[in-house]
Amino acid sequence: MPRKIIIDTDPGQDDAVAILLALASPEEIDLLGITAVAGNVPLALTQENARKTCEVAGRPEVRVFAGCDRPLAHSLVTAEHVHGKTGLDGPDLPAPTMPLQQAHGVDFLIRTLRDNPAGTVTLCPLGPLTNIATALQQAPDIAPRIKEIVLMGGAYFEVGNITPAAEFNIYVDPEAAEIVFKSGVPLTVMPLDVTHKVLVTPARSAAFRALGTEPGRIVADWTDFFERFDKEKYGSDGAPLHDPTVIAYLIRPELFTGRHINVEIETRSDLTRGMTVADWWRVTDRAPNAMFMGDVDADGFFSLLTERIGRL
Ligand code: BDR
Ligand code: CA
Repeated sequence: MPRKIIIDTDPGQDDAVAILLALASPEEIDLLGITAVAGNVPLALTQENARKTCEVAGRPEVRVFAGCDRPLAHSLVTAEHVHGKTGLDGPDLPAPTMPLQQAHGVDFLIRTLRDNPAGTVTLCPLGPLTNIATALQQAPDIAPRIKEIVLMGGAYFEVGNITPAAEFNIYVDPEAAEIVFKSGVPLTVMPLDVTHKVLVTPARSAAFRALGTEPGRIVADWTDFFERFDKEKYGSDGAPLHDPTVIAYLIRPELFTGRHINVEIETRSDLTRGMTVADWWRVTDRAPNAMFMGDVDADGFFSLLTERIGRL
């Protein structure tokens, strides 16, 4: 039985690749819908980018909802410096023709969790946690119904990418992240410690292009675009492909290893706001609340991803 999921996202080229990986994997994944959130770029663009991505996969029937347009307590911080002004810069993609759903993304999350049997729907947040936290606040009864939240966000050994102390998704809405990390829902976290190991080297980008398909070319164009920024920043052989790790975990969990530990979110300090304080060394007696991943089989990840993109 494929696993029922909702992708909550702020596309973003790496978000878009994650959506394609899910749509290319119907045996393992049943995508119930996509909720867009403000993050890499404002909501008007992220919801449009989510629809463009579904059309790249030839799946215009996927339901895309717009969710929250700003973080819970602070103004929005965006990342055009990484993703370009549309959030999905790189290839020229046509404006989507598939509709945006009428309902608010948060209402869709709540309704879907109430309508499905408890413990059957997994949430996959790939951006700031505003929609998920808002749903949990508005409808606390959904928390025990969520099977698991598998998210990209945070860092321990790699510390931060938007500030010296914080990873982007958590930094943009730390108050939302705090609600999610304290929710009691089983959490699996893909932090920078993992995603900085899945680098799109020239050979891996060439493998997408060599698929000889439109989706393969588009994925290569997306990764080539954000490479420019990240390679310069990190001085590495390629840029990290963060968000598809979440979907890869659902398909092949054995590619990842981590620790079940306590993770708290810093919300007060000006200097370290949005930091994920992860008790990796288990030096406190705070109760574990997250499976915090630390390592990945990068070659296994890219061979899975390339093979699946080739199916579209
Ligand atoms: C995260 O921030 C965004 O820019 C990416 O899409 C990813 O979700 C990495 O810090
Ligand atoms: Ca993202």
